[in-house]
Amino acid sequence: MLNEKKMFLKSFLDSPKSVGSIIPSSKYLVQCMLNQADLKKDSKVVELGGGTGVLTGAIVAAAQFHKPLLVFEQNDDLRQSLSKYSGDITLFDDAFELGTCLSHMANQIDCVFSGLPLLNFKKGERVDLLDQIYFILKPGGKFIAFQYTPFLLPYMNDFFESTTIKVVPLNIPPAFVFVCEKKA
Ligand SMILES: C[S@@+](CC[C@H](N)C(=O)[O-])C[C@H]1O[C@@H](n2cnc3c(N)ncnc32)[C@H](O)[C@@H]1O
Repeated sequence: MLNEKKMFLKSFLDSPKSVGSIIPSSKYLVQCMLNQADLKKDSKVVELGGGTGVLTGAIVAAAQFHKPLLVFEQNDDLRQSLSKYSGDITLFDDAFELGTCLSHMANQIDCVFSGLPLLNFKKGERVDLLDQIYFILKPGGKFIAFQYTPFLLPYMNDFFESTTIKVVPLNIPPAFVFVCEKKA
């Protein structure tokens, strides 16, 4: 059986634009993402682009939720590897279906984490996705997303009332964590 790093690399080689990276995020990037959220047991949390689950496992461990973490992962092999968290998470497929899948949770989600390669999406797709994320976030909720460039800042500023960026050099490649807040 392929170990997780090999499976991730294979997924990247099969679908480079969609996976967006050759290896999973480092523990430093995962910790930086977590540090930006104030997770509690009753927080309602969504993760987009779960991959092999390096962030998924850390989110579950950090908050020990009463409610399952809602995770979207499009790649079949990677989604299969996320099933190790079954019981703690509910799995969905395409993040672009976010607004439909979670239409009953409009304005309720405390935090949306994302590892999606947003820069690889078409402009219209990006705007559509940010619109859906904004729709499910509660007032004061946070969208916490990593990217490998800071270039998406203008898009975030179009949607969110406040956006800050943290740099994580200890990741391959170095990453930028966008912390975007919906107006309270
Ligand atoms: C850069 S990887 C990040 C994986 C993981 N979160 C990590 O930090 O190691 C991006 C992930 O987003 C997934 N992805 C890309 N497009 C997606 C979509 N439309 N819906 C759900 N997942 C998607 C890819 O399959 C991949 O697992």
